[in-house]
Amino acid sequence: MKTVYVLNGPNLNLLGLREPAIYGSQTLEDVRLLCEQACARHGLGLEFRQSNHEGELVDWIHEAGGVHARGELAALIFNAAAYTHTSVALLDAVKGTGVPMIELHISNVHARESFRHHSYLSAAARAVICGLGVAGYGLAIDAVAQW
Ligand code: DQA
Repeated sequence: MKTVYVLNGPNLNLLGLREPAIYGSQTLEDVRLLCEQACARHGLGLEFRQSNHEGELVDWIHEAGGVHARGELAALIFNAAAYTHTSVALLDAVKGTGVPMIELHISNVHARESFRHHSYLSAAARAVICGLGVAGYGLAIDAVAQW
């Protein structure tokens, strides 16, 4: 069974409380359950994590890279949150490990402040999903299941 890594960056632990007009009312635990159900539908395993620390996300991408090297990674679905717009280290981690990655945003970052329009990660992404709300996570897993 291949595993999907779903990694979430800073402040996503506040989902449900944080700016609900932008991010909706569902919590990160709701998102985890949604991902679990999508993975179960497709016979995929799931590693679902959140961190507020850039280096921890780098370490987890390296871990996913090890799983990928063994042929056991379905994909990385990555909502790097604010680090999307700032982090060369996360881009380098994705490129350095070669993990197949879908960049994901709950909100439509292109309809928001201009500093959210640039993503360091898009250059290394197989696909980008944004603006579909938390449903985007399930749709990303559905897509990965067809790769
Ligand atoms: C986000 C969009 C980012 O710009 C923001 O910093 C986040 C969440 C999203 O899911 O819409 O924290 O990645």
